[in-house]
Amino acid sequence: MRFKDKVALITGSSRGIGRELALTLAREGASVVVHYRNNQAAAEETLAAIHAAGSEAWAFAADLEDPAAIRELFAAVADRHGRLDLFVSNAAATAFRSALTLGPHHLERTFNLNVRAFVLGVQHAAALMPAGGRVLVMSSYGSIRAFPTYANLGTAKAALEAWVRFFAEELGPRDINVNALNAGIVATDSSAYFYNQPAMPPMDDVTARIPKRRAATAAEVARAAAFLLSEDASYITGSVLMVDGGLSVVAPPFRVELREPSGS
Ligand SMILES: NC(=O)c1ccc[n+]([C@@H]2O[C@H](COP(=O)([O-])OP(=O)(O)OC[C@H]3O[C@@H](n4cnc5c(N)ncnc54)[C@H](OP(=O)(O)O)[C@@H]3O)[C@@H](O)[C@H]2O)c1
Repeated sequence: MRFKDKVALITGSSRGIGRELALTLAREGASVVVHYRNNQAAAEETLAAIHAAGSEAWAFAADLEDPAAIRELFAAVADRHGRLDLFVSNAAATAFRSALTLGPHHLERTFNLNVRAFVLGVQHAAALMPAGGRVLVMSSYGSIRAFPTYANLGTAKAALEAWVRFFAEELGPRDINVNALNAGIVATDSSAYFYNQPAMPPMDDVTARIPKRRAATAAEVARAAAFLLSEDASYITGSVLMVDGGLSVVAPPFRVELREPSGS
């Protein structure tokens, strides 16, 4: 029960990693605010799973591209709980396109949802957070590696990792830790969508090049996130934890491409 009596807000917790993290924290005692954009059925399903586990949660819809909606989300948290212990900025979306074809609206929408919403969210969260509070943002290996159609989101993730350092510096004296979790390929709706694009190879061909030879499950990422949110991570702030099955440490030639398995 590492999160007993803690109030946690996880953006984008109707589906995928956010949903798994909501369940993980709730099972360990947190009271969870499930946030979503418009998929109410999925949010209600997350709530039902949390309630079935005997934990407390409620849901709130807000389009995080809209600063007024972000304000309303945190006002609802303040009304209901009067505080916030754990803020996880997890919701994300983008247009997967070649960098040369990104229009101003693609750039603006991706920046607003992924970067501006985090900055505004931390500002609101910090106002509600006691000492011992935690901020965590979900990043991806696109922040440090380049691959087709990911430029818009990858550069936003790189910006998030820089924001983590600045917020950690400013909030450290208040005993609020701020970190990022940098995930590799995770089996969720969004990775399925990405690898279903006509130009993309099958996901299995790509994961064959990763040391772990498979995508992460959302539950594996959620467990690592829970560690960063827990008391065990009390002295970790301003960090980026790689949870990528070794994806970012390998380079061509990949082991799977060797003509002889031993490589000798
Ligand atoms: N999946 C991967 O392979 C992978 C790899 C590395 C990093 N990550 C990162 O991990 C995080 C979670 O990824 P995921 O794959 O679990 O996500 P997902 O399954 O695509 O879920 C996205 C969530 O974000 C919400 N959302 C989308 N647009 C929104 C908006 N404008 N305003 C508010 N909420 C919005 C969705 O709400 P609705 O349900 O209402 O649409 C949903 O809850 C993201 O930050 C992602 O970049 C994922």
